[in-house]
Parts: sequence; C-alpha cells; structure tokens
Amino acid sequence: MSNASNHSSLAYHELEINSRDNLSTLQSHILAEQQKHPGSTGSLSWILSAISLSTKVIASKVRRARLQDVLGSAGSENVQGETQQKLDVIANETLLRCLGGRGGVAVVASEENEQPVVIQRASGHGERYCVLFDPLDGSSNIDTCGGVGTIFSILRYEDGEPEQAILQPGSKQVAAGYVLYGSSTVLVMTLGQGVSMFVLDPTIGAFLRVAESLRIPDTQKVYSCNEGNRPTFEPGYQKYLDWAQQNGYSTRYSGTMVADVHRILVKGGVFLYPPTKKAPDGKLRLMYEANPMGMIIEQAGGKACAGKQRILDIAPKTLHQRTTVVLGSTAEVEHVLRHL
Ligand code: AHG
Ligand code: MN
Ligand code: MN
Repeated sequence: MSNASNHSSLAYHELEINSRDNLSTLQSHILAEQQKHPGSTGSLSWILSAISLSTKVIASKVRRARLQDVLGSAGSENVQGETQQKLDVIANETLLRCLGGRGGVAVVASEENEQPVVIQRASGHGERYCVLFDPLDGSSNIDTCGGVGTIFSILRYEDGEPEQAILQPGSKQVAAGYVLYGSSTVLVMTLGQGVSMFVLDPTIGAFLRVAESLRIPDTQKVYSCNEGNRPTFEPGYQKYLDWAQQNGYSTRYSGTMVADVHRILVKGGVFLYPPTKKAPDGKLRLMYEANPMGMIIEQAGGKACAGKQRILDIAPKTLHQRTTVVLGSTAEVEHVLRHL
C-alpha cells in the first residue's frame, strides 16, 4: 500500500470517528435547538441554562451533604404536610435564585412553596414561561446515600393571574426533564421532539450529551411499585401484581421516582403508584412529578396513564394536586390497564 492511500484511509477513519462522536454540551445542544426556530427570542434557552446551573449546584451539595452536615430534617413541613429535609430547602432556594434572575420567567412553582412565586407578569414583549419543579425528589433517601433527583416542567405563560395561568394540562408543556443525582449526575430532557440525555462531567463542569432520540424498550418484565401498600390497592392493581408474579416479573423500587423512572426509560418496564387508603387520589403530584415524567416517557415512545386516562390530558384544578401514575414501556403499561 502506498503512502498516499495509507494517508487517505487514515483521514477517512478520523472523519468517521469525528462525525460519530461529536462532543456536544447541554449548552450547545440548547443553542442548536434554538436555531431551529428563527423567530425565537432565546427566553427558553436562558431558562434551561438556569436549570442546568441550579442542578450543578444541587449535585455538588448532594455529593458533599454528609461532609457539610446538611443531612436530615430541616424541622419544618412543606405544603403537603411532609417533613422538609435540609437539602429540600437548599435545592429549592438554589432553583429560585437561578431562575429569579432570568428575563423570560414569569412565574415559578415548587413542591416546597404553597403558592407560585411571581417573577414578572406578561408584558406583551417577548415570550414568558411558567417553570414548575420538584427541587429534590426522593429526599428521604439522602441520609442513606440513595439516588435523588430534580424534576422540571415548563409551560408558556400567556396572560391572566399566575395562579390560574399555571393550571394547564401536561400536553401544553414546551419542555420537561429531570436530573438524577445517582452514581453519576444525569440530565434527561425533551423539548417536545424526542428525548436527549446528558451526563455531568464534574472535571469540566459541563453536561455532555450521551444520547439523542432515546427510545424506551417496548417491553421488559419489570415492575416498580411500593408493594407495602398492596393491601389497600384497588382490586385491579392487585390482580395485575398477581399476574406479573405468575409470569416471571422482577421488581425494582427505590422510593425515588426519578431513579425508578430513569431505570425504566433505559431498561424498560412499568412504574406504578396507584391510589392507597392513605393517599386516595394517588401520592405523586401531577404538575411537577407526573406531567414532566409522563412527557419524557411519551416522547421516548412509551405510555403514561392515570388509571385509564392519559396523564397529559388531565386538566389541573390546583397546583399541588395528586394523581395515580402508571407509566413506562407501552406493552407493560397495557398489561396493567387490562387488569383495571
Ligand atoms: P418527594 O421526595 O419529592 O416528596 O417525592 C417522593 C415520592 C417519589 O419520589 C417516590 O416515588 C414516592 O414518593 C415514594 O413514596 P413511598 O415511600 O410511599 O413509596
Ligand atoms: Mn418528588
Ligand atoms: Mn421533593
């Protein structure tokens, strides 16, 4: 083989590697998405970058929680009457401080605040958004080094009183996602056209894209559910669990929705939190837990239901309302639904 042909095959090989393994940060991904919408003001990009910054700060606090003595309860309760962990409060303040300074944010709403916080009313100039979040999901797992997460949902703010303007069905979300602070920090996001996944490289302080157009497996014999509540489930859910156990299913449940749903997104299966005696409407919150996770799962080709109804079609009545959740691989969700 001549030198020349050697050289050209090397160049071709390099080109192949480059086009396959292009490095993209979350920031460059967001800018590339923005360029697809020439009329865009960039407001949504600013908001997503505030979320990225907040979650990097939260990741670092989570990693050093024991060293900095911020484990355990803050000695207060949130609007749900649940004990707030110190890190719930820290994560909430971090998100509020990062989002509070961004022009496109009209109103933010959090699991930890009874009322939405109005940042800026619609002015007619530029796009305005409502940003909803669960600052720290699964926070009771923090003391035992378990995975925890942040969930976010972004809606357009047209006009009207913020408390009412925010009450839109999940199908109106313009973006949704979560960050899992697990063995690595993973950000999963959709802007309504597929799902992308990023991993935080702590040595350079940036989220790097590791997957695009993520698809959930259609089927997998795994269910994720708190079976301690089984005696008070409606009969349909109990019949489903009997069927699954007779058909060789495995169970995986951590008590952090973000961690359990992330596993299902990557490996397949079904996550369910049915109504119980203690939580007759279900435990999980519609607007900042079920809607964003439901949008991610649907965008990845799965299904997200509240009993027989599609989660994203539910018209919310209150900010903190709860819902039943059944979501995951299409075939697995359908197995649950046919028993109801
Ligand atoms: P949060 O920590 O934000 O209150 O959420 C906890 C949620 C969710 O992450 C999880 O799926 C569920 O509560 C676990 O509830 P059980 O302990 O009742 O199983
Ligand atoms: Mn939660
Ligand atoms: Mn929470």
